[in-house]
Amino acid sequence: RTAYWQVDPVEPRSEIIDRAGMILRRGGLVAFPTETVYGLGASALDGRAVRRIFEVKGRPPDNPLIVHVAGREMLRPLVRSWPATAEKLMAAFWPGPLTLVLPAAPGVPREVTAGLDTVGIRMPAHPVALALIASAGIPVAAPSANLSGRPSPTTAGHVLQDLNGRIDAILDAGPAGVGVESTVLDLVADVPVILRPGGITPEELEKVIGKVKVDPGADGGDVSRPRSPGMKYRHYAPRVPLVLVEGEPERVAARLKELADNYRALGRRVGILATAETAGKLNGGQVVVAGSRQNPAAIASRLFAALRQLEGRGVDVILAEGIEPRGLGLAVMNRLRRAAGGHIERV
Ligand code: TXA
Ligand code: MG
Repeated sequence: RTAYWQVDPVEPRSEIIDRAGMILRRGGLVAFPTETVYGLGASALDGRAVRRIFEVKGRPPDNPLIVHVAGREMLRPLVRSWPATAEKLMAAFWPGPLTLVLPAAPGVPREVTAGLDTVGIRMPAHPVALALIASAGIPVAAPSANLSGRPSPTTAGHVLQDLNGRIDAILDAGPAGVGVESTVLDLVADVPVILRPGGITPEELEKVIGKVKVDPGADGGDVSRPRSPGMKYRHYAPRVPLVLVEGEPERVAARLKELADNYRALGRRVGILATAETAGKLNGGQVVVAGSRQNPAAIASRLFAALRQLEGRGVDVILAEGIEPRGLGLAVMNRLRRAAGGHIERV
């Protein structure tokens, strides 16, 4: 049985947080809200507890987990050293959606790092996440709280869809805000490299530390030699095929209409994930508007819920509209390209 506890997102009641913290200390699994998506937490110091995360998610064992801390003092025992750029980034973006990949200290269980000599660490900007980690008094390893490969959960309801009965407890504090996961930044390389675009944009990072590279795998492109194990798996995907169409709104709308008509002629039920710019040109059917192209942050925050929503309406195929890969649009396009698993058209 999974205990379900509703908590206030701003001032969570301490008895509930302490109960959940106790579960973590004893090797259990607790799903909790962060500012990006819901996470599935276990003690980062307990290899057995971390192995359970991999079991319940069906996660490939070579994909390392991010360790969540409630303060800088928790960082020390986890990493061997960090560069001056890490100090600047922590000051600028923590708590927040930025994961720093740093040299791992010997004490970090190999279940967490998947055998790598680095560890990804972040301090989440959510009062419930911070209170939970502080109450447990230990760093918390947490992937997104979905079955491996599925769209990440942005509500407690999504977590229950995937993991009800398989985990010890869930803290429900309403929808996550950012909607896409943290940016994963490798600080071990000479020039910092974005391994996964996310809630902090490349533009924001460069204002603080100058030049950063974006790994070729990070925009959903070439992953033949992945730097981050997570890059090589099909991911974020609904249960039905997703076809991604990228380009100018006018031409995208025309192509989406044409594709939808073709699929319908074959008797398929079609769902469309559109933007405000094209939705008016797509007649009827199952159209979900993710938001305006002018506001990629709004699209990011609705993206995963929209994919689950379309799937829930029983469509056979999802047609999705691409947006400009700038700002948060880069993270959105990374998720969509990977959900499409190669079914991408540029018009
Ligand atoms: O926003 C987030 O980051 C959420 C919330 C729960 O904090 N967590 C999350 O975890 O998205 P997960 O496990 O779904 O994704 C972690 C990503 C994977 O792509 C993994 O390969 C990468 O981070 N990663 C973790 N540790 C790494 C390391 N040492 N080196 C390279 N990549 C690493
Ligand atoms: Mg994930």
